Amino acid sequence: PDKYTIILIRHGESQWNVENRFTGWVDVPLAPSGEAESHRAAKAIEQEKLGIDVVYSSVLKRAIKTGMNILEDLDLMHIPIIKRWKLNERHYGALQGLNKKETVEKHGMEQVNVWRRSYDTPPPAMEEDHEFWPGKDPRYKDVRPAELPKSESLKDVVNRFMPLWEEELVPEIRSGKRLLIAAHGNTLRALVKHLDKIPEDVITGLNIPTAVPLVYELDKELNPIKSDRSWSPLSGYYLGDEEEIRRAIDGVSNQTAASPSKEPPAVPAPE
Ligand code: 3PG
Repeated sequence: PDKYTIILIRHGESQWNVENRFTGWVDVPLAPSGEAESHRAAKAIEQEKLGIDVVYSSVLKRAIKTGMNILEDLDLMHIPIIKRWKLNERHYGALQGLNKKETVEKHGMEQVNVWRRSYDTPPPAMEEDHEFWPGKDPRYKDVRPAELPKSESLKDVVNRFMPLWEEELVPEIRSGKRLLIAAHGNTLRALVKHLDKIPEDVITGLNIPTAVPLVYELDKELNPIKSDRSWSPLSGYYLGDEEEIRRAIDGVSNQTAASPSKEPPAVPAPE
């Protein structure tokens, strides 16, 4: 074929997205809203008449369930969902579990933005006695201890994800398989950075909304073909209403914004 089509999708809103907590590798479920989002995504994919031959997801249930919901709705439950830890969300280190706004109050907006969106400054590392240390989790029993992160920057995610992309996903795509990659905000930022050759100082400003299918068409060399349906800096195009998606993208960025101060209700002027 002279071009390949792949669909990227961030998992639907999770329990900790709702509670505005740093999640990383903690295996939290989809919130009811996230389940609904994933079914809406399935409808958008169906209307676009996009085919799927195999799903790649992380080993985290919020991404796996997003893929499962889409396959169920498209009546494709017979095709494989291949789960790879190298598609996991960026490991948020000792921040995992903390509320994002409380972390801003404690460390300041500047520092939290560096931890969230800088290219090569990781969040504070977690200790091996941390309740969320993955070393005890059986799903990582075959991962060399030196490979298990205690924290990750986006650069670390690029360095652990790109080998999987080159060694396993690219051959699948070249073999003609139409991939749905159900993953996470920062893993997808790493992938689109690679696909669109986005510079390090530009990727810091890019946010991925939950459960909006992002379609990439790739040429024979797997370079993205800039779609005329793309209104974002990405070559790929989002399926759905542009205004709604722009609001969702801003919402991701503003998760650390201070909530509007609770003004006391205005006292009506005396008659
Ligand atoms: C998390 O891991 O907390 C989120 O999925 C991504 O969070 P971020 O948008 O703050 O990086």
